[in-house]
Parts: sequence; structure tokens; C-alpha cells
Amino acid sequence: MRTYLVTGGAGFIGSNFVYYMFRKYGDDIRLINVDALTYAGNLENLKGIEDRKNYTFIKADIRNKEAIEKIFAENDVDVVVHFAAESHVDRSIVNPEVFVETNVLGTAVMLNAAKAAWENEGGSFKDGKKFLHVSTDEVYGSLSDPKDYFYETTPYDPHSPYSASKASADFLVKAYVDTYHFPACITNCSNNYGPYQFPEKLIPLIINNALSGKKLPVYGDGKNVRDWLYVDDHCKGIDMVIEKGRVGEKYNIGGHNERENIQIVKTIIKTLQEILPNDDPRKANVSEDLITYVEDRKGHDRRYAIAPDKISKELGWLPDTKFEDGIRLTIKWYMDHLDWMENITSGDYQDYYKRMYRI
Ligand code: NAD
Ligand code: DAU
Repeated sequence: MRTYLVTGGAGFIGSNFVYYMFRKYGDDIRLINVDALTYAGNLENLKGIEDRKNYTFIKADIRNKEAIEKIFAENDVDVVVHFAAESHVDRSIVNPEVFVETNVLGTAVMLNAAKAAWENEGGSFKDGKKFLHVSTDEVYGSLSDPKDYFYETTPYDPHSPYSASKASADFLVKAYVDTYHFPACITNCSNNYGPYQFPEKLIPLIINNALSGKKLPVYGDGKNVRDWLYVDDHCKGIDMVIEKGRVGEKYNIGGHNERENIQIVKTIIKTLQEILPNDDPRKANVSEDLITYVEDRKGHDRRYAIAPDKISKELGWLPDTKFEDGIRLTIKWYMDHLDWMENITSGDYQDYYKRMYRI
């Protein structure tokens, strides 16, 4: 039975990935979730699988070498799926250091521990081992020509402390491949949306604010473009790269779904107006009058757009969920999980929101 070590499995994509893997492989895998439970990690996300016999949660920080080495010593790990990171660009602008510590040093700790556990005498690696480093399209910088896309060959040009830290981590992984022939792959994915996303990110923040009749903050002119992918399609891509991706290669993941931020905000408003029953008092509050243009993000990348040709041609990956369906599913999920939202927005989130948005 194959053992997966997932880092950051209590976060947004990580928890969706854990569900995806149990839906797909059931009892045929063992999965260990290692997470430090920062503000972004939430064990409530994993309630649906926490009692499975083939699932283990370990609270540990990826910066803690001893703790990570102990996990490798006690478990015969076959695949590492490395999600754990500080993930929010705005936080990285205010406090870059922790992004370097977790995203760069934490990745170095993970790479070193896996290398030590998987290396044969003589420097080759045991069969069937793979390290999948989950990265982002933000490492490529920003596109100005509307006909341009990010390819795997696009030079790295990160602008935010977040994307610079992820780019550094990607280069570390590449260095392990080039230097030691370490069995790793990198995936660079576009913006994900779906259940369990922390409401500091655009889509859950707008849904939550709209349902509460609060202002909807739009940075700058609202015309920055992001390329949105339903989270399960990302999980499917990661699983395919683990199964069939060539060692040492990187794969872009994205579904050709570019939208200006203001379009996203207006789509959420329109969908909420359609979904909310007429006798729901929240319905009257949900309108475009809530849209509030606020100060732009510093160094705000203008446009991201992924060319997924390589993963499609080589591995047969294609997204299953159209944006129109995915955004409806997502909005309904948040409406059905108001207690989840309430629990994570009741504490420190209020201070974060006040510091971040003076509206
Ligand atoms: P998230 O912020 O929702 O979750 C991050 C998780 O990592 C949390 O559970 C947190 O507790 C954990 N974590 C943070 N620091 C840790 C540490 N030092 N030790 C152990 N655990 C720690 O992030 P996400 O949006 O789910 O992103 C997951 C990964 O995917 C990240 O590497 C991110 O760069 C990448 N990614 C995200 C997107 C996106 O749109 N969200 C797109 C492409 C790539
Ligand atoms: O592209 C992949 C990246 O997508 C991931 O690597 C990151 O981890 C993830 O956070 C996400 O980064 P973005 O900065 O693109 O996502 P965010 O949801 O923060 O913002 C999306 C866009 O919406 C961006 O142009 C900024 C804008 N925005 C965001 C917020 C939170 C607003 O206009 N208002 C807001 O309140």
C-alpha cells in the first residue's frame, strides 16, 4: 500500500486534495497529513475523513527539522505532496519574513528529509518514490500582451514576497533534481476556488461580505485578470503528475478561464441574487451598490494566464468543471456552511480585516 505524506492538508487545497484522494483510492492508500495549523489551517475542514483508519494527522511545523525527520523515520513514505506554505500575497507584503521561513526553509527541510529517507547507498533513490512540490503561476510574473500565456519555459519573474518565496522553493526543488537526481516534480497552478478557502482570498471574501451586506473591496480599477480553476481539477492534475509525470519535470495547471476581478465580483452578486429565496432578508442587501474600489495592492500583477498544453498532451489532463458551474457550487457550499465561516471569521480575522481594509 502506498503511503502519501501531505503537508498543509488542513488548508484550502490540501484538505480538498485529502478528500479527492480518499474518494479516488478509498482504503488502497495510507495518507499522513502534516500541518502546523497556522491561522489558515483548520481541522474542521477534515471532519468528513478524520476517523478513517488509513488517515493520520500530525501537528508539526515544516521548519522543524527534527519533527519532520522523525515522521520519515517512523513511516515508509512513498510520495510527498508538499502544499504547506504561507499563501496570501497581501500578508506577504506586510510580513515577508515568515514567507521565506516557511516557503523556502520549510521546503528545504522537506527536501532534505525525503532525500535522506529515500537515498540508497551510492546516491541512487529507492524505486517508486516521488516528491510533488505544489507551486503557483505567480512565479512567472505578470503578462502584458493579451496574446501571451505562461508556459513551463517562461522565465521566472516574481514580484511579491510570496511569489519570490515560491520561486525560490521551486529553484531549490530543481537544484535537488539537477544535483542529486532527486525524484521530484513541480506543478504551477493558477488561482483555485472552491470549498474551504480562507476568506482572505477574493472569492470567499466577496461571498461572505455580500451575504453579510458588507462592502465588497475591489483593488485598483478591478481589471486585473486571474485564471480561475475549480480546486478539484487542480487535485486531479496533481494526482496525474504523481502517477504519470516525468521525474524532474514541471507542469502548468490551468483551465483557460480568465476573468477580470470586477467580473468575478459581479458574477457572485448575480448568482447570489438568483440563488437566495425571495423571502430571505439578505437578498435585498446583495447588489452592485456594495462594490467599493479601494487602494490597489502594492506591485499588483496585472494578468495571469496558464498554457496547460504540456499536462494536457503528456498526461491527458483536462478540467472537468466549467466556471459557471464551479462558482455556483462554491457559492452554495459557503451558504450551506455559514457555521464554518462564522468559526473562522470570529477571532483574529476581525483584526486582520480592520488592518487590511479601512472600509
Ligand atoms: P492555505 O493558506 O489555505 O493553506 C496552507 C496550509 O499550510 C495551512 O493548513 C497551514 O496551516 C499550513 N502551513 C503553513 N505554514 C506551515 C508550516 N510552517 N508548517 C506546516 N504547515 C504549515 O493555502 P492554499 O491556498 O491551500 O495553498 C496550498 C499550496 O498551493 C501553497 O503551496 C500555494 O502556494 C499553492 N497554490 C495555491 C493556489 C491558490 O489559488 N490558492 C494556486 C496555486 C498554488
Ligand atoms: O495564481 C495563484 C495564486 O492565487 C496562489 O499562488 C496564491 O496562493 C493565491 O492566494 C492566489 O493569489 P492572488 O493574489 O491572485 O489571489 P487573491 O484571492 O488574493 O486575489 C485575487 C485578485 O483579486 C487579485 O488581483 C487581487 C484582487 N483582490 C483580492 C482581494 C482579497 C481584490 O480586488 N480585493 C480583495 O479584497
